[in-house]
Amino acid sequence: MKEFHLTERLMVGHPVIDGDHQQLVDLVNASTRELSAGNHAVFMELFADLVELTKKHFEREEEILASLGFPNTPAHSHYHLEMQDELEARLMRYEQTGKYDDPQTYFYDMTQFVIHDFVTKDLEFKSFMQEVL
Ligand SMILES: [Fe+2]
Ligand SMILES: [Fe+2]
Repeated sequence: MKEFHLTERLMVGHPVIDGDHQQLVDLVNASTRELSAGNHAVFMELFADLVELTKKHFEREEEILASLGFPNTPAHSHYHLEMQDELEARLMRYEQTGKYDDPQTYFYDMTQFVIHDFVTKDLEFKSFMQEVL
């Protein structure tokens, strides 16, 4: 099974934020492994952890950005809300239907999700971090 790894290019340069991103990636990899193995109960626990960690991560990241004076914090926070809604909708769908994506589709979707957050959104404050830290 493929695994996704955070590369240097995807690091934003803040240890707490990069650490959270690493944990999110680890959870995507671990939940994919459990889904592939057909361990749905463990998969659901890990997916719920992923939703919870995402929520905490977004809150932490927003606090950091606000405290450092990142000018685009409100728009970035709004984007986080949309992402959180999407993840929670997935969790509900799994819980209510008991139907899971096939592991490859799941892995592809979730890495796109996480990469989208890193690359197109969080990298918007990478140069800002380099200036202020
Ligand atoms: Fe973000
Ligand atoms: Fe982030």
